[in-house]
Amino acid sequence: MQERMSNTCDVVVLLSGSGSNLQALIDSTRTGDSPVRIAAVISNRADAYGLQRARDAGIDTRTLDHKAFEGREAFDAALIELIDAFNPKLVVLAGFMRILSAGFVRHYQGRLLNIHPSLLPKYKGLHTHQRALEAGDTEHGCSVHFVTEELDGGPLVVQSVIPVELQDSPQSLAQRVHVQEHLIYPMAVRWFAEDRLLLGEQGALLDGQLLAASGHLIRP
Ligand code: GRF
Repeated sequence: MQERMSNTCDVVVLLSGSGSNLQALIDSTRTGDSPVRIAAVISNRADAYGLQRARDAGIDTRTLDHKAFEGREAFDAALIELIDAFNPKLVVLAGFMRILSAGFVRHYQGRLLNIHPSLLPKYKGLHTHQRALEAGDTEHGCSVHFVTEELDGGPLVVQSVIPVELQDSPQSLAQRVHVQEHLIYPMAVRWFAEDRLLLGEQGALLDGQLLAASGHLIRP
């Protein structure tokens, strides 16, 4: 079990799948000086492997099956209730395969982060690696952003940019992008936990400075 310390930032993670980003986040909290505490992991799918990762780390888990609800609004209302029972400062989407209602997004305005496997605003939605290859892009990557009502459209926090190789397949590209996801997501969550990152009227601010439209850029 992770101990609650003063100055910790409680985080609830939402996911639907493998949870490798959750794992990266868990690993990053094991450094000793991390202010991040993962209070709970919630999935809409009982079989999500990410839940097992959470249990293995001694983190509380919950499943809320969207199919048991009449519609998006009803599911999202129940999800809000479940999340808020843990009183998190930040909610982290880590492969949560649900479109969120406007009400949900507004409820967590400024404290809801997502990671997306493309250099947003390019390739919102699915099949991002294949689309980057088909377009002949020479660079690809991933983005962490604040979530707003526009799908994959909120202010960018950080992007990692990697070169596309001639011999890349969607799978090989996905694999290299994933490595970058595991670096930038814990970084952004930590910034937030340390009160260095926040969502202002004009966009994302890091250490009091408005970030560029692309967010903080990393080229490993
Ligand atoms: C990642 O590619 C992330 O960018 C996207 O969903 C995927 C989740 O992967 N939002 P994992 O479950 O963390 O391995």
